[in-house]
Amino acid sequence: MVTETMRNKITVVGAGQVGTTVAQLCAYKNLGNVVIIDIVDGLPQGKALDLQQSGCLQVFDSIIQGTNDYKDTADSDIVVITAGLPRKPGQDRADLLKINAAIVKDVTEKIMEHSKNPILILVSNPLDAMVYLAKQVSGLPRERVIGMAGVLDSARFRTFVSNELKCSLVDVDAMVLGGHGDSMVPMPRYTTVSGIAITDLMEPDRIEALVDRTRKGGAEIVSLLKKGSAFLAPGASAVKMVEAILQDKRRILPCTAYLEGEYGWSGIYFGVPIELGRNGMNKIIELNLTEEEKKMLNISAQDVKNTIEEVDAFLAG
Ligand code: APR
Repeated sequence: MVTETMRNKITVVGAGQVGTTVAQLCAYKNLGNVVIIDIVDGLPQGKALDLQQSGCLQVFDSIIQGTNDYKDTADSDIVVITAGLPRKPGQDRADLLKINAAIVKDVTEKIMEHSKNPILILVSNPLDAMVYLAKQVSGLPRERVIGMAGVLDSARFRTFVSNELKCSLVDVDAMVLGGHGDSMVPMPRYTTVSGIAITDLMEPDRIEALVDRTRKGGAEIVSLLKKGSAFLAPGASAVKMVEAILQDKRRILPCTAYLEGEYGWSGIYFGVPIELGRNGMNKIIELNLTEEEKKMLNISAQDVKNTIEEVDAFLAG
């Protein structure tokens, strides 16, 4: 019998759409005990109870707890931060950044009061800015503060490639690098079907159309849903990272990592291929890029740098 203390402790901050999906998949995969925390009284408790009651049906015996008290998050191995507000009509990106920065700062401080050395996975948007903020506020090394973006963006690209070629999703792999915004850089040369690059399988104009759809993947879902944003694939993407870390899988995945000279940039969070294991990020992998790819990544990095300067201004004042 596995005792509570031997299990991994996973905290999910935010009991909304993404947070609930993360908690559910972590439980279904028996990755550890799960604490769901939210600012709204009753919401995480209700979600946790509901999820716990699915345990005997889905066959998991992880303990699921819902709370509004950060003491219950003590000694978490991994914390997935999904707290934040969605953008309202008429609100500009800079305003949203300030609102979610205040939330993510508060959450990170409270998590760090009760857990000495957690691994933080950031999901809240604007992602590149929020993961940078969490690193600054937590004081954790870059290996332990990672953003979820590339896994989701490449899952979208993989889906579009499989639709286009009418081939099985499981044979398609993809790489999307850069910031998690309009300037993200899907990488056709590193996007393959059973090892064959899509540049050998598709005409350039079709590839460009899929690249464009990937860049706008989040907005496409927002416009269909009318209320709220994507949560199933984002939740599954974060859990893929949680699983790689807790099970020390050493998976190589595109994630948002803090650069210290890699790809020619320092002091920014950026989507790059990294190896994920029990200590978080083991290493960043640098690809041999063409001049065109370098140019696109530099444009995206400059975009991210501008957002990070807004975070620095927020922290300073
Ligand atoms: N502390 C804890 N939870 C908070 C706080 C806070 N300070 N502020 C807000 N929350 C909670 C809200 O109460 C809500 O339950 O965060 C949750 C967010 O859930 P949703 O509004 O359903 O948003 P969701 O779709 O889950 O997206 C969350 O992930 O993909 C990103 O862009 C998305 O930034 C957004 C985040």
